[in-house]
Amino acid sequence: MRSQTILFVGIVSLCSAKEYYDKLDRYLIACHTTDFVCFKRQYKALRDNVLLGNNILNIDYYDPYYFKYGNSGTCIKLSGLEESELVGISMDGAVGLFGLTLELPLRVQQVYNDTKLCAEPEREFTSVQTHNATIQAIYPYEIRKKKGVIHMVLEEEDLEVILDIPHLIDYDMNNTEQLAVYNLSEWAYDILQHIDAAKSFALPYTSQYRTLAERVSIERLLLLYPEEEYTDVKFNFSDSYHFP
Ligand SMILES: *[C@@H]1O[C@H](CO)[C@@H](O)[C@H](O)[C@H]1NC(C)=O
Ligand SMILES: *[C@@H]1O[C@H](CO)[C@@H](O)[C@H](O)[C@H]1NC(C)=O
Ligand SMILES: *[C@@H]1O[C@H](CO)[C@@H](O)[C@H](O)[C@H]1NC(C)=O
Ligand SMILES: *[C@@H]1O[C@H](CO)[C@@H](O)[C@H](O)[C@H]1NC(C)=O
Ligand SMILES: *[C@@H]1O[C@H](CO)[C@@H](O)[C@H](O)[C@H]1NC(C)=O
Repeated sequence: MRSQTILFVGIVSLCSAKEYYDKLDRYLIACHTTDFVCFKRQYKALRDNVLLGNNILNIDYYDPYYFKYGNSGTCIKLSGLEESELVGISMDGAVGLFGLTLELPLRVQQVYNDTKLCAEPEREFTSVQTHNATIQAIYPYEIRKKKGVIHMVLEEEDLEVILDIPHLIDYDMNNTEQLAVYNLSEWAYDILQHIDAAKSFALPYTSQYRTLAERVSIERLLLLYPEEEYTDVKFNFSDSYHFP
């Protein structure tokens, strides 16, 4: 009876280990160093299943970024990472740098929240302002082999966020509708410029990539050709117009 119980436990843990790998396999896409299209697909799968949160890999769920703006009590919500696309990826073993460039519609929204944090806004905007944003993260990295498993160890990233703000001069100030859009745009511009909100918004997300690299062997993400080594990989793809 006793040995039967032990056997049973053994089978259960074997099954859950298999299930663990099956699930990761569904969204960890490995790409060759020459395949930009594959990297774009890889990013989308990581975005949806890993970077926005993952239980199996113990990666925290990403919350939209909320903050209190000025003394007015207004609360702002920034979102859009869930729609981000990979527009550049690069890796250079010689200098130990790994780069990601993402584009997304950054949504700036006034939110109402009856906790103490937010109060009635001074200027009320009900619509959502969307700006195209480009995020570039450059991580210094090292390749380390531990117990036969190869990892890319990422250090803290250097982050840049570029926002496309429409030219305010293009609006017709005699038109009430356009004036309202102008006001809204000016307000969003003000927020994003003066508190560096875009960086605070992007950093918690781009740092998820560091955690991913800790949890998953580089071999599950990057495939080499016979003549390549993980320590001297080199590629640089981009279709971003901000970061060539
Ligand atoms: C890829 O090329 C761009 C433009 O030349 C450069 O800014 C970036 O640092 C390169 N990436 C790496 C990892 O060297
Ligand atoms: C109100 O804001 C707090 C702090 O940002 C947040 O945790 C909570 O979920 C918000 N409540 C609603 C109803 O949005
Ligand atoms: C964002 O970029 C897309 C494609 O590049 C463009 O069609 C769209 O109008 C832009 N949106 C804004 C708000 O500038
Ligand atoms: C707006 O109105 C002013 C005077 O009422 C006029 O001089 C100006 O040309 C108008 N602007 C446009 C873009 O129609
Ligand atoms: C736009 O802002 C100006 C000055 O802040 C204000 O006088 C005007 O009423 C606003 N217009 C609209 C349509 O929101």
